[in-house]
Amino acid sequence: MLVVIEDFLSSNELTQLRTRLDTAAWSDGGLTAGGLANLKKNNRQVDDQSDEATEMANFLLAKLGNHPTFVSAAVPHRIHPPRFNSYTQGQTYGVHVDAPIMTMPHSNEVMRSDMSATIFLTDPADYDGGELVIEGEFGSQAIKLDAGSMVLYPSSSLHQVAPITRGKRVSAILWVQSMVPDMNARALLFDLDQSIQSLTNAGKVDTDELMRLTAIYHNLVRRWVQL
Ligand code: NI
Repeated sequence: MLVVIEDFLSSNELTQLRTRLDTAAWSDGGLTAGGLANLKKNNRQVDDQSDEATEMANFLLAKLGNHPTFVSAAVPHRIHPPRFNSYTQGQTYGVHVDAPIMTMPHSNEVMRSDMSATIFLTDPADYDGGELVIEGEFGSQAIKLDAGSMVLYPSSSLHQVAPITRGKRVSAILWVQSMVPDMNARALLFDLDQSIQSLTNAGKVDTDELMRLTAIYHNLVRRWVQL
């Protein structure tokens, strides 16, 4: 399941984030990829441990936790704080799969990556190339979103960042351990929840059918959740 959340950030939030990123300390991104992935990664990123990175990541974490579509699609248990990276002309991240187990910054806690996300922070008109190409059941999809929009995809999928041929692409990436580890179960819950939300928004709130659907949703969560 691949979920696009448009306008995750408002234009004000985007401007503030971009301004902070412009003055942050950047270094070679290859330092954080383990093993094989290291050889494929050619980008720059903000030091995870820096105060700026922590503040920006906390801001995004608070937004994620309150975003109904993100919560519905990911059913998050743990979220690895967003990491900020940039690609300029000639830079790329070749085909790889994200690490299955990650250590949370500032602690020894570990988490499993079930879903990966990219929040695009650069206007697509400002760079060429740089698509996030995700291989899935029905072939590969090249994703390039408006600044402020995000895509959520299974961490198990092979993916790459296509080489940049003009300009610079800045983004935030993060990982989620879901309370519903089974990807197919999560997709069913998301579909059901989205339908319930549409019916609710269409003013069908106090119908028995909606109550039954909501009960089914909760009881499926109860069946599939792993804490
Ligand atoms: Ni990746």
